[in-house]
Amino acid sequence: MDKLIIGEDVFVPLLNEEQIQNRIKELAEQISEDYADKVPIFIGVLNGAFIFLSDLIKKVTINCEIDFFKLSSYGDAKLSSGNVRLLKELNCDVNGRDIIIVEDIVDSGLSIKYIGDLFKKYSPQSVRVCTLLLKPKSLKYDVRIDYIGFQIPGKFVIGYGLDYAQQYRNLKSIYALSDNSEKK
Ligand code: IMP
Ligand code: MG
Repeated sequence: MDKLIIGEDVFVPLLNEEQIQNRIKELAEQISEDYADKVPIFIGVLNGAFIFLSDLIKKVTINCEIDFFKLSSYGDAKLSSGNVRLLKELNCDVNGRDIIIVEDIVDSGLSIKYIGDLFKKYSPQSVRVCTLLLKPKSLKYDVRIDYIGFQIPGKFVIGYGLDYAQQYRNLKSIYALSDNSEKK
């Protein structure tokens, strides 16, 4: 894997395709075991989580359903604006159901906290959170994450669903902004 140069920024390889897919298989096995007698609804947080959700449910061996929330918080910047907006509500009935929220990355935890608050108006049977990536040092909110793919340093990352100004989501691997690049 080569580094990526985007404008003045240098991104270095963090996780390759094989590492990502192997870990997703482990998560899928764990979830399939935990929900053996259930039909959970995987709820992806758009846009970032769509690739992870797609690969995850292909590896899950139980019956399941999917739906999506769409949130916006980053705009086109590398740092969160601190504001979350709900751009798309759920379309399914979550009352009495087992819900697995699927995120690409938990950074400050604000988005997950916001979704937790949204769920207060529903009556699901259970709610768990699954994220591919977690930046433990960036967490600012007290949120419970049940399934974690990888814990990573607090650097801006792109690829595998994660964007920079809406681009680079289609990369199969994940790259991190190198220390030599300035955060804008
Ligand atoms: P949080 O609300 O601060 O936890 O951030 C969660 C959301 O911000 C994620 O779902 C991503 O969409 C986005 N995000 C956080 N960190 C990064 C990153 O390093 N690269 C790209 N998007 C990110
Ligand atoms: Mg996201």
